[in-house]
Amino acid sequence: MRLMKKATAVAMASCMALSLAACGGGEAETTAAAAAETTAAAAEEAADTTEAAAEETTAAAASGEVANKDKPLVWFNRQPSNSSTGELDMAALSFNANTYYVGFDANQGAELQGTMVRDYIEANIDTIDRNGDGVIGYVLAIGDIGHNDSIARTRGVRNALGTAVEANGAVDSTPVGTNTDGSSTYVQDGTLEINGKTYTVRELASQEMKTAAGATWDAPTAGNAIGTWAASFGESIDVVVSNNDGMGMSMFNAWAKDQGVPTFGYDANSDAVAAIAEGYGGTISQHADVQAYLTLRVLRNALDGVDIDTGIGTADDAGNVLSENEYVYNEEQRSYYALNVAVTADNYQDYLDSTVTFPAVSNQLDATAHPTKKVWLNIYNAADNFLSATYQPLLQKYDDLLNLEVEYIGGDGQTESNITNRLGNPSQYDAFAINMVKTDNAASYTGLLSQ
Ligand code: BGC
Repeated sequence: MRLMKKATAVAMASCMALSLAACGGGEAETTAAAAAETTAAAAEEAADTTEAAAEETTAAAASGEVANKDKPLVWFNRQPSNSSTGELDMAALSFNANTYYVGFDANQGAELQGTMVRDYIEANIDTIDRNGDGVIGYVLAIGDIGHNDSIARTRGVRNALGTAVEANGAVDSTPVGTNTDGSSTYVQDGTLEINGKTYTVRELASQEMKTAAGATWDAPTAGNAIGTWAASFGESIDVVVSNNDGMGMSMFNAWAKDQGVPTFGYDANSDAVAAIAEGYGGTISQHADVQAYLTLRVLRNALDGVDIDTGIGTADDAGNVLSENEYVYNEEQRSYYALNVAVTADNYQDYLDSTVTFPAVSNQLDATAHPTKKVWLNIYNAADNFLSATYQPLLQKYDDLLNLEVEYIGGDGQTESNITNRLGNPSQYDAFAINMVKTDNAASYTGLLSQ
């Protein structure tokens, strides 16, 4: 297992947060450093105000009259951020004293996914080039061009395969459309040296998998795309890569499985892990078992008025505790990031059920010390493969363990209003867990809570 040390992970996460564009070098680095200073100063100031506010909130909670704007709030899976620049929306992330984000370390995971694909190509070089033209061709399914996790994964694959080019100080993550002749300016032909021989690697095609109505990460769209691509240049496709398993499995089932073309995804959903036995190349676990726990745990802690680290870095009264192998906390960003693990033919047997709670945090809380509280939680798109097949089933197990009564709302993946319309009376709830349709739209929710 390749888990990176905590410090590196934090540095990468903060690099990502400052600006998706700022992790390259030169001028961009100076800007990033300046931004880091500003953020640090702002964070310090915020911390003072936050402490006072947190005391107030706890006092108000005890008297039973907490204003909606002061109730615990957790953003999860889609981090409040600018969808063009990746810059974090710190106003949303520090909306009140008990606001947090829970996600995963996007850069560490992206690097793992890219390395997994490259390792596979190297290990299978004798058979991978199906038409023997010396060019290893891959196609890439992109989830959402404005979602920083999706952008990071596209970059990770291009970096590892040598196809990345820089644009504005960062790796370009623009979809190429089709690039069978290697002329796209968003990517370049990469080279891999394997056993003394040089191979060309080409991104033959890539596209954002979005429906006409606007739903992103759309699996059926990916299934159609591979059909179109295969019909015109199928014999050149040696590897299929996807920003997630939902789209990856759709392409695998529609075409790649029958052709024996390895397909790589992300999420470690149960069906994708099982498919490794049938030629699916591999996937990345973003530790949804840890993320789902953290999503509800930060709310539980805020509602209990205890230190936020309780049951996370510090064991709680039931013995729940995580280790630094599973997550990092970035205080400045008020964000918890789960760490990723590659799941391949070597270890997939350990990941066959993606809905099993993480053992170290599966102890039931005592109902007297931690009485039932009501939480409103939404999933941006009820049809999202990862959130519906992996994340929500986990949340539903943890809500029992943490004595939280959660109302689950499933959105249409297209508009925020489809979701916010169903938060008619926030006063009925003690806390909120929000998964936005678009990372720019935090104000649609905080606005409602501020009324
Ligand atoms: C998952 C995708 C999912 C997306 C939704 C990502 O973290 O990997 O499968 O569609 O979240 O926001």
